[in-house]
Amino acid sequence: MKAEEIKRIAVVGAGNMGHQISLACALAGIETSCSDVSEVQLQKAKSFMQSYLPGKVAKGKLTEEAARAAAARLRFTADLDEAAAGADFVIEAATEKLDLKKEIFRRLDRICPPHAVLATNSSFLVSSLVAGETSRPALVCNMHFFNPALVMKCVEVVKGPHTAPETAALAMDLARRLGKVPVLLHKEVYGFLVNRILARITEEALFLLETGVASAEDIDSAVENALGHPMGPLRLMDLTGIDLNYDIAMERYRETGDPAEKPSPTVVEKYARGEWGRKTGRGFYTYPETK
Ligand code: 3HC
Repeated sequence: MKAEEIKRIAVVGAGNMGHQISLACALAGIETSCSDVSEVQLQKAKSFMQSYLPGKVAKGKLTEEAARAAAARLRFTADLDEAAAGADFVIEAATEKLDLKKEIFRRLDRICPPHAVLATNSSFLVSSLVAGETSRPALVCNMHFFNPALVMKCVEVVKGPHTAPETAALAMDLARRLGKVPVLLHKEVYGFLVNRILARITEEALFLLETGVASAEDIDSAVENALGHPMGPLRLMDLTGIDLNYDIAMERYRETGDPAEKPSPTVVEKYARGEWGRKTGRGFYTYPETK
């Protein structure tokens, strides 16, 4: 199958990543179903779409007709079976829990047509952890988007030992069809490319904050104004979620037993206080607009 022949996409999960990945697919002209077990999450995703599209029209970046057509192409549903039946390509963007992902892949394998590619948007779980749950490991790969997925151009496509070269090529071409600039990882590695590099920067930023060398504002300002990053690492953690940083570090610590993998004391403290970043109204910074 070629990327242009993909008619239907199912995105599993309407959270931080899924709601924007599904809208990116609909904007690229593909019939898309976005499913989630949480009605609240689905409603949030729908509300986002309802304010995002008119916003783009008002800025002159999208015609009214294109916005209407994208909205008509995107369906939100609590029924995974309904969303995945008939899908040519699935992007799983559910919570980062391995058992849950295994269950989803087993279910997708039963529901989806035999030709459908099953990709995971996981930030750190390689697809060989779920490929064995399916009868089609050659059609399983990682396809990792960045937050906010409608804006960030990079998509990491990771080829596992089970992934057919054609599957990786199709994921790369689909990313291009969505207007992204994909990169290919020829083998699985923990953290892929971007999060390995970002983790080192974040670790250093937290060290400088915790040892009182500089404030969060000045650490971010330095990275933004000296290195040209659009956002410093602490502001960025507020965007991606301090809870996500905590969960990933804990999962890695449980897996390796290496104390160096534990979340930093600041992250543990903020996690326990429910200060998870933008989504809770407070993280390294405060966000009064978040209810
Ligand atoms: N969702 C969708 N679109 C958004 C957005 C959001 N949350 N925030 C901003 N945008 C869009 C705006 O609509 C605007 O679009 P336009 O140019 O078509 O009008 C454009 O982005 C610029 O927005 P603003 O002028 O309001 O704001 P900024 O110029 O400050 O940009 C930003 C905001 C795009 C978030 C920018 O600060 C940025 O690129 N930050 C870095 C993000 C980053 O590094 N992401 C990678 C995170 S790591 C990750 O995702 C790993 C994963 O595994 C967790």
